[in-house]
Amino acid sequence: MKIITSIEEQKEYCSSIEAEGNNISLIPTMGNLHSGHESLLLLSRSTKNKRIVSLFVNPLQFDSISDYRSYPSSIDSDIEILERNKVDCLFMPDENQMIENINHPETIHLPQYMSILCGKHRKGHFDGVFKIVKKLFKIINPSIAYFGKKDYQQLMMVRHIAKEYFGNRIEIVAGDTVRESNGLAMSSRNNRLSLTDKKIASSVHKELIIMRESINLGSNNQELLKKSIDALSDKYIKIEYLELLSSVDFSIISKKNADNAMLFVAFYISGVRLIDNIDV
Ligand code: PAF
Repeated sequence: MKIITSIEEQKEYCSSIEAEGNNISLIPTMGNLHSGHESLLLLSRSTKNKRIVSLFVNPLQFDSISDYRSYPSSIDSDIEILERNKVDCLFMPDENQMIENINHPETIHLPQYMSILCGKHRKGHFDGVFKIVKKLFKIINPSIAYFGKKDYQQLMMVRHIAKEYFGNRIEIVAGDTVRESNGLAMSSRNNRLSLTDKKIASSVHKELIIMRESINLGSNNQELLKKSIDALSDKYIKIEYLELLSSVDFSIISKKNADNAMLFVAFYISGVRLIDNIDV
């Protein structure tokens, strides 16, 4: 596997791939790879494209410097995973080079739905993701890019970027959320949880499943959401949001049974913020 750290070199490598008549698949990551990332790597094997993984812990998308500094890193095992998955190239850009000029006064126009859920609770987060994803797309020029469904709002924003800024030339493929056996969604942040924390955190996913059944049986959505927030909130779990929204435009689902409904949750456990979602 080729490892590239310079943007110029990465651009040249991508141009040479194109000159040979090949297309590129991009799997953007912040490293600390787990089975969730591996499922994207597996998904990306279904084409003949050259596969490039980017590894960049983007300081612009963190809420606080301490959250950024404590983001887990495991480069050696990441490289091992990528080699095992026969990735062609790892792009690990230098931070200064990547961030240089990126804050240029570009007015970021995000769809209205980006200001709810995580957009409401993590000010500036999606602006940071927007800038880095757009820059990665420009450097790599992929024909396909892979993102996890766990970060559903991010996935919707990336689709928006592909459409508005790249004329839909980049196909965005969504990978299903991979879970631990107790239902907890895989996340690099899980590394910061104790075994007990993980067990308690998995109760949130279990509650989402119970909610789905009640919603499909026709229960009153708003009452149900309130009841579930009360049931989950205790001295360990602090719910930031729990909402039932349309997966197409994030509008509130008020009808009892609606197509494209999704439950979205964000919560804190032992100071670690986790998110999850399920189709209803
Ligand atoms: O989902 C992630 O890991 C990050 O938000 C991404 C897409 C790599 C941008 O930094």
